[in-house]
Amino acid sequence: MLKKIVLTGAAGRLGGYLRKPLAAKCAALISTDIARMEDPLIKGESFVQADLADYAKMAEIIKGADMVVHFGGHPDEKPFEDILHANIIGCYNIWQAAHEAGVRRIVYASSIHAVGLHPKTTAINIHTPHRPDSYYGLAKCFAEDMAKLYWDKKGLEAVCLRILSCANVTNSRALGSWLSYDDLIHLVERAVDTPTTGFAVIYGVSNNDRSPVDNSGASFLGYRPRDNAEQFAEDILANAPAPDPRDPDQMMHGGPFATTDLGESGVAKLGLSPDDN
Ligand SMILES: NC(=O)c1ccc[n+]([C@@H]2O[C@H](COP(=O)([O-])OP(=O)(O)OC[C@H]3O[C@@H](n4cnc5c(N)ncnc54)[C@H](O)[C@@H]3O)[C@@H](O)[C@H]2O)c1
Repeated sequence: MLKKIVLTGAAGRLGGYLRKPLAAKCAALISTDIARMEDPLIKGESFVQADLADYAKMAEIIKGADMVVHFGGHPDEKPFEDILHANIIGCYNIWQAAHEAGVRRIVYASSIHAVGLHPKTTAINIHTPHRPDSYYGLAKCFAEDMAKLYWDKKGLEAVCLRILSCANVTNSRALGSWLSYDDLIHLVERAVDTPTTGFAVIYGVSNNDRSPVDNSGASFLGYRPRDNAEQFAEDILANAPAPDPRDPDQMMHGGPFATTDLGESGVAKLGLSPDDN
């Protein structure tokens, strides 16, 4: 069992699913977020409200941790200043503070939007070059490169989870991109449990028949997703808009982020149900 895990973004949607399974893996789970934690704390968990961009605060929270599970930050495209604050400076603070504290590994919520402008008809893999579709995706590229730098120069391990779409299946893109909450938990558990990872990238996607990504290069992590979005295909396709191969939103890995302007929300175009947004 680990001594201490720090979970950032703990008051957020995905963080909320991770608190219990992570608390079970360590003597002390320190959950943190800029927002207040509305849900009751669980056994072994404490909460610190803090801004990722505040280095001194992050360094204090991370001191003594074995691992940081970094899910905090904006999950959507925003004006550059917002992305800079939470997703770029915030990530730098996490990596530098983790290095200073002698943390073993960071498990990071990266995103498909780091490679969002590759066409979906080409299966991309863990070696596919960065091709961001937004400032948001660009910040994920920065964090992945920083993770590589801190592994190469400082020996700080990192597992970058390029999550596709961890939300209810409400559109035809999600038939390929869906990551169920159970598979998210399994993925994060594997990223924490695997004895040695070095620097690793893996796509966060369920075992969908229509998955557009190839995770075979990261099989050593033992991530074997069980859920499959095909169960929703009939209903979703019956109500889907007319297929249009000239529409980048339908053709690119990043979906609607392909055509949203820099600084404007891509998530707003996804048509997620209220409990997922
Ligand atoms: N949901 C998905 O499908 C998906 C897909 C790809 C990647 N991701 C990544 O997963 C992570 C979690 O996403 P989510 O859907 O749970 O989003 P969310 O918005 O529900 O959670 C993110 C949390 O980060 C916190 N946060 C924002 N700015 C902060 C700051 N400056 N300091 C401290 N905390 C701050 C927010 O208060 C929020 O609670 C994000 O990094 C996102 O980019 C999510």
